[in-house]
Amino acid sequence: MSEAKKQDRTELMRQIKDEVLNLKKSPLCKERIKNKVHPVIGEGSHTAQIMFIGEAPGKNEALTGRPFCGASGRILDELLEHISVNRKDVYVTNIVKDRPPQNRDPLPVEIEMYAPFLDRQILIIKPEVIATLGRFSMEYVMKRYGLEHEVDGISKIRGKVFETDMDYGKVKVVPLYHPAVALYNGGEKDVLKKDIEVLKKIICESRTKPRSLRGYKI
Ligand code: URA
Repeated sequence: MSEAKKQDRTELMRQIKDEVLNLKKSPLCKERIKNKVHPVIGEGSHTAQIMFIGEAPGKNEALTGRPFCGASGRILDELLEHISVNRKDVYVTNIVKDRPPQNRDPLPVEIEMYAPFLDRQILIIKPEVIATLGRFSMEYVMKRYGLEHEVDGISKIRGKVFETDMDYGKVKVVPLYHPAVALYNGGEKDVLKKDIEVLKKIICESRTKPRSLRGYKI
């Protein structure tokens, strides 16, 4: 991709950041300003083949402005290492960009308020694979992108690959457990490792043909 196109993506991401910074209609934004912490927009390659979508920032993330940089992030790093993927080559973000107090689950109204930013990020990055982390992003992404009939309990559909059409090409959606499950139940780490191996398979398969010959407009 040309430098100009990469710069366009960076500029579009910067606009999202400016809008989230000033999202005064959101009580989570007001709370963030009061607490002098940061929104978490996302991090990684703007031309990533794989986009990981979590739930919402936790304490460490709000302090640093970086997604998955605390205990769950260490599990995510371990999972990426397991499939020999470098974190800087993927894009990691959340549906909700500001921290819910006491790390509570995001409310439907919060998802509704912040999800349009995620939709724009997907259209900027144009990932071939969206890996959702946890049930909130699984439900949002599947319902939003034409896979509503496939939605089921996360324990039933984790590690499966669902394909949908976006206007820039086909996208594979892979629901995964949230990495935090391995913090509460060590045994689940093996399940997460097994499930994420499907991403390695997708990467290897795509290597045989360049993106332009696999039906992607960009
Ligand atoms: N949990 C999430 O869902 N996202 C983060 O960024 C950190 C923890």
